[in-house]
Amino acid sequence: MKEVKILGIGSAVPQRVMTNEDLSKIVDTNDEWITTRTGIRERRISEGENTSDLASKAALNALDKAGLKPEDIDLIVLATSTPDALTPATAVFVQEKIGAFNAACFDISAACSGFIYALNTASQFIKTGQSKAALVIGADVLSKITDWTDRSTCVLFGDGAGAAVLVPSEEKGVTSLFNGADGRKAGVLGINCVPVKNPFVTPEKIDDIKIFMDGREVFKFATSIILEAIDKVLKDSGLNIDDIKYIVPHQANYRIIEYAARKLKLPEEKFFMNLQKYGNTSAASIPIALDEMLDKGLIKKGDKLILVAFGAGLTWSAGLVEWQY
Ligand code: COA
Repeated sequence: MKEVKILGIGSAVPQRVMTNEDLSKIVDTNDEWITTRTGIRERRISEGENTSDLASKAALNALDKAGLKPEDIDLIVLATSTPDALTPATAVFVQEKIGAFNAACFDISAACSGFIYALNTASQFIKTGQSKAALVIGADVLSKITDWTDRSTCVLFGDGAGAAVLVPSEEKGVTSLFNGADGRKAGVLGINCVPVKNPFVTPEKIDDIKIFMDGREVFKFATSIILEAIDKVLKDSGLNIDDIKYIVPHQANYRIIEYAARKLKLPEEKFFMNLQKYGNTSAASIPIALDEMLDKGLIKKGDKLILVAFGAGLTWSAGLVEWQY
């Protein structure tokens, strides 16, 4: 079994900025409410780019940083809740757009936990020798399934994509990855799809394909699972919290992160946060955060990071990254 490392990270967000002030012209809300309850000040909203468009830009960006060409990639694993189509997978649209014709392609549906689910999945392909270079992508255009009349959800989300190039390695890179799920809580957060409708069945009602959420339930879940997941990564890796340079959490809500920092008796600065600029970009939030951290020079070779995410399912995922460049 080989070790696995990240060779490059890239991201892409739409140009269009939507501020809290802009939102207050669409629904009954205001900057003060959104900022104090969530920490979000603005988000990026697609002006037509679909999930595969943003994903392809992020992928090319990651390949460029890794010094690889699209044809070097033999696997694309893309995590999304907002695919271009029910089938085929959004990963194949990315393959076509970037010209990665040597790659096997599939999508993962694990909501906001999706990027780490995908990282874990692609890592297994690399460890067994089935993949020599994989693209792991988290991409979502949540604006297309946002209910723009529901102030309790539409203020939270944004659009974006992030990608990582994964390769075999001599040194430890990505380790202690794990995924979890509790399907008993599937009704807490999700996006409906088409019901069964055929010559034998006429559904009583057809739900809109929109996000639904019990915010308080999600909040309770997120604040407990984030602590459990960090603890599990530390135990699995045999490390102490002081060995960790940064915790990179899914960027859902400032208050969830602040709660975790308080419970762990850590300074908030140990948790990287950029949700104020992008809102919750679901599967894209962690790779977008990593890309920004690298741009800002916050991560150096040898630094250890914990990635941790939670989302619809309910699902969760986490892992350790020892940075190798
Ligand atoms: N602007 C102004 N008022 C709003 C509002 C908005 N955007 N959204 C809700 N409100 C109102 C509610 O109608 C309610 O009013 P009422 O007391 O008159 O009924 C009041 O604010 C409080 O609503 P509540 O839902 O109790 O707020 P909250 O403190 O629980 O915060 C969330 C709501 C969504 C911010 C919070 O529950 C949360 O962050 N949950 C986690 C969501 C999440 O991260 N989801 C993705 C996970 S991957």
